[in-house]
Amino acid sequence: MKALAVIPGRAHSLHLIEVPRPSPDEVPGGRGVLVRVLRVGVDGTDKEIDAAEYGQAPPGDGYLITGHEGFGQVEAVGPAVTEVAPGDFVVATVRRPGSSLYDRIGTSDMTTDDVYFERGINLRHGFLAEYYVDAADFIVKVPAGLEDVGVLLEPMTVVEKGIAQAYEIQRRLRVWNPKRAAVMGAGTIGLLAALVLRLRGLDVTVFGLRPAPYLNANLLALLGARYVSVAAVGVVDASHEFGPFDLMFEATGYSPIVFDSMRALGKNGVLVLSSVTGGDRRVEVPADRINLEFVLGNKVMVGTVNANREYFEKGVEDMALAEAVFPGWLSRLLTHPIVGLEQHREMMRTLTSGTDVIKVFCEVAPAHRMRYSHFPAEVALENRPNMTCQQLIDFIMSYLDNDLPGDQRAEFDRHMAVCPSCVDYLKTYEKTVMLAKSCADDQVPADVPESLVQAILAAIKKTVD
Ligand code: BGC
Ligand code: ZN
Repeated sequence: MKALAVIPGRAHSLHLIEVPRPSPDEVPGGRGVLVRVLRVGVDGTDKEIDAAEYGQAPPGDGYLITGHEGFGQVEAVGPAVTEVAPGDFVVATVRRPGSSLYDRIGTSDMTTDDVYFERGINLRHGFLAEYYVDAADFIVKVPAGLEDVGVLLEPMTVVEKGIAQAYEIQRRLRVWNPKRAAVMGAGTIGLLAALVLRLRGLDVTVFGLRPAPYLNANLLALLGARYVSVAAVGVVDASHEFGPFDLMFEATGYSPIVFDSMRALGKNGVLVLSSVTGGDRRVEVPADRINLEFVLGNKVMVGTVNANREYFEKGVEDMALAEAVFPGWLSRLLTHPIVGLEQHREMMRTLTSGTDVIKVFCEVAPAHRMRYSHFPAEVALENRPNMTCQQLIDFIMSYLDNDLPGDQRAEFDRHMAVCPSCVDYLKTYEKTVMLAKSCADDQVPADVPESLVQAILAAIKKTVD
């Protein structure tokens, strides 16, 4: 299969490689899940990896397959997997457990180990490939209704963890009723943080560099959030007008803003830091003042990185809620699709210097247009037809009229051999056609038994679900 890999330590080495397709048997205990990758998002971390500032190859391999924001469709599962089935949409978590206590209790995002394992980032291959395999424990199901935006789940989890941690910390106050929030940065993470805070009912001010109007500011307006360009108003000044801020979420990647944020934070407030800043920037700060206000104001500041399964599940819930409250909003973040792994140069170019970029992502493969979760699990991969249920349905007329070219007809038959629900569907379809032909005046005869009508409706519903 094809994959995209870097040679860690060598800048701009991202290239297409050919590696064997993994098998679910690689995971012990029958817990393997083979995922066909559909989309993979890229972010600042991928930029750093490509610049050779970050990232290590798995031991023994001279390359690292990149990509940690994966979205795919289950292709096959091991015998001990009950949580997902072929056809399900899924996202895999990023970090894999090390040896600290936190790793052992399912919270590897809180590891105290110095070395950590992250798929597509550090010591473990990622998802920019045609397929990947992982244990079901690290695979999170995404409902089909979120198919179009599922690639945003991983960045969403970074936000979910940060905000959940803030609420957890604020239990120190016994009563905490946050009213006003500030988000520093209007990139993907900043936008998603604003979304989640709006869904929690907070008044949200987002600070960004660029003067409004522009896409990100417009998207914030749709959420009912306020956008402030720091080119016009400083963060501390703005906090007098729109604060005091009970919760602040920093996601700019620019560390000096942290010290302004500390000052803009309200009494008893919590400031969440999420930027991974690999550089060596230095600034002068009003240290006494910041310290004094922190002490006298009982303020708290917390760092957050990565996310464990719990936050992926919460992310799915909030994405579903977002689709209900702000329909179509999430998909507007998906500004820059790059079709095919082959286009990796274009992908990196867009990521580093594209204009009006919110999210760059690789369309690795199109989703099966219709879920084939009803293929019995025991149907071996090589017996899986290429024709999806939806295509079969599109071809059904020609099939019955004997108009399908030979190879398509063969694919059609191959599909029918493994797909009981399409067999049902075809039968119902034939019956319906016959029925229609039998009544000259195009009307359903009055004597059609109600049970047949119900059976037809049920069969259609079953296939389409
Ligand atoms: C990823 C996190 C990861 C962090 C540090 C981020 O881009 O979203 O999962 O922990 O980089 O490697
Ligand atoms: Zn089918």
